[in-house]
Amino acid sequence: MSRRLEGQTAWISGAASGIGEATARLFAAEGARLGLADLQVGRGSETERAIQSAGGEALFLPCDVTREDSVLAAIETTVRRFGGLQIVVNCAGVVHGRLLHEYDAEDWDRLMAVNVRSIFFSIKHALAHLRRNGRSYMVNIGSISSFVGQASTPAYTASKFAVLGLSRSIALDYAAIGLRCNCVCPGITDTPMLRHHLNDAPDPAATLSNRLHRVPIGRALTPDDIARSVLYLSCEDSAGVTGTSLTVDGGYLAAAEWQAPRVTLPSDLP
Ligand SMILES: NC(=O)c1ccc[n+]([C@@H]2O[C@H](COP(=O)([O-])OP(=O)(O)OC[C@H]3O[C@@H](n4cnc5c(N)ncnc54)[C@H](O)[C@@H]3O)[C@@H](O)[C@H]2O)c1
Repeated sequence: MSRRLEGQTAWISGAASGIGEATARLFAAEGARLGLADLQVGRGSETERAIQSAGGEALFLPCDVTREDSVLAAIETTVRRFGGLQIVVNCAGVVHGRLLHEYDAEDWDRLMAVNVRSIFFSIKHALAHLRRNGRSYMVNIGSISSFVGQASTPAYTASKFAVLGLSRSIALDYAAIGLRCNCVCPGITDTPMLRHHLNDAPDPAATLSNRLHRVPIGRALTPDDIARSVLYLSCEDSAGVTGTSLTVDGGYLAAAEWQAPRVTLPSDLP
């Protein structure tokens, strides 16, 4: 069976954990060669080793996406190792559970630098390589917070609205070189980020269960659920799709009610 990313090279930020890691493993299984960029050296090296042990090709690149020189170096090293670049996935991100009056300017700038400015650096430095291909792909990870506000995460919400806007602008401005750029917007996804964020609450388990009442499918998404949509937008399965968003939220944004009604269906449903 032919693999969907055979012959393609992808650069993925945030690849050491959660959604980025799941995307890296899925891309490797689909035949891609991978530059794995992340701050976390231990976890990033483990992801690299796991992919290589499964027969894939991956190179871990210690990288701080808030620094332009670091993003440039990670992209250039990927291209040198694998001889080209077709796919960029911007997945690195951070969340703070904090009200605006509790913020200081440095924390605000840092969050915006990780979640938004990093995308500017990646397109700026990947462009020369992406344009050498007839077709290339960028997928940026937004959030349900790209569409609605969520309590106590104002900077994060602002950053994720920006990620969606930036994705649309990139799609418009670089369509002429064959780049398609889209935004995958996850809902509540079980990753270290979610666990860490919940730990700020007095009762993390109760907080999660409360939030999941709002999700029609009744469970948290898995990192792999999200990775499958990233894959779809990183290959010709999504030919013609650009400048849009794909929400993967288990129905979260479909409901106007705070408690989504869980409809009990008759057992003799045809
Ligand atoms: N988990 C969720 O519920 C959820 C929901 C919506 C959107 N998202 C988004 O998905 C993306 C991935 O999040 P996740 O849940 O997998 O979290 P995660 O914490 O498991 O992974 C995020 C990765 O980004 C890396 N990172 C953070 N700052 C970095 C920096 N300066 N330079 C390089 N790497 C850096 C971290 O080291 C980590 O490996 C994020 O953009 C997040 O906002 C997550």
